[in-house]
Amino acid sequence: MEFPSEFIRFLTKASRVAVLTGAGVSQESGLRTFRDAQSGLWAQYRPEDLASPEAFARDPKLVWDWYAWRREAIKGVRPNAGHYALTEMEKKISEFTLVTQNVDGLHRIAGSANILELHGNILKVRCSECGTFTETWDDDVESVPRCEKCNGLLRPDVVWFGESLPRAELEAAVNAARTCQVFFSIGTSGVVQSAAALAHAARNKGSVVVEINAEPTPLTPKVDFAFHGKSGEILPELVKAVWANGLS
Ligand code: OAD
Repeated sequence: MEFPSEFIRFLTKASRVAVLTGAGVSQESGLRTFRDAQSGLWAQYRPEDLASPEAFARDPKLVWDWYAWRREAIKGVRPNAGHYALTEMEKKISEFTLVTQNVDGLHRIAGSANILELHGNILKVRCSECGTFTETWDDDVESVPRCEKCNGLLRPDVVWFGESLPRAELEAAVNAARTCQVFFSIGTSGVVQSAAALAHAARNKGSVVVEINAEPTPLTPKVDFAFHGKSGEILPELVKAVWANGLS
């Protein structure tokens, strides 16, 4: 892919960069994006109907089984070239913040360090009543496992529809968006708040906003640069174009 020289120049000089990622970044690792059709037994449900406190209250076992199925899918999955390119980028930029909506933990496995997980992590489990985290549990059970401390039902440590984002992470993400020189929105449909608002916050503060996505999104008309294609291909090419040619 050809990157405009103006864009390469911006990035070469940037010392504060913020990146927002979504499910598209993990697509090339073999994980379905959030809005992709579900498969098998789960095809009859919309994710939105399973990822909510109401769904858990109505049928906790159904929700638990869906997350157990997704945890199982994640187990065999490795980060892809896009995840690794972001870890390379972090090494080159002094203030680099990676904000992710993904709950799959792949950025961490790839080696990214300064990560804000806005929607939690599917591999962590906590009590739905007292909040205590549990290190071990059985996914393959007749009924939802319970907290050893208070007997409350266990749930994944993710943010469900209708729940607030973790305050500290959100504040840090907003701060990174407001103070960065370049903001990337990568592999996200940009329709879920508050994550989607980060790109606008960056833009309002005069940062260069960049989109990398398989296809145009509602954010596309508002960005300074849009690159459409797979993040697992574009990101390594970008890192090579900026940092492998002796420009910095
Ligand atoms: P979506 O499933 O809404 O969007 C995935 C985006 O990735 C789409 O815009 C695709 O075009 C793009 N895409 C797919 N494959 C790609 C690839 N190989 N390279 C680059 N882009 C690609 O997922 P998110 O935007 O992450 O929240 O969804 C945001 C949130 O919506 C999720 O975290 C979830 C959901 O509500 C909660 O569960 C709270």
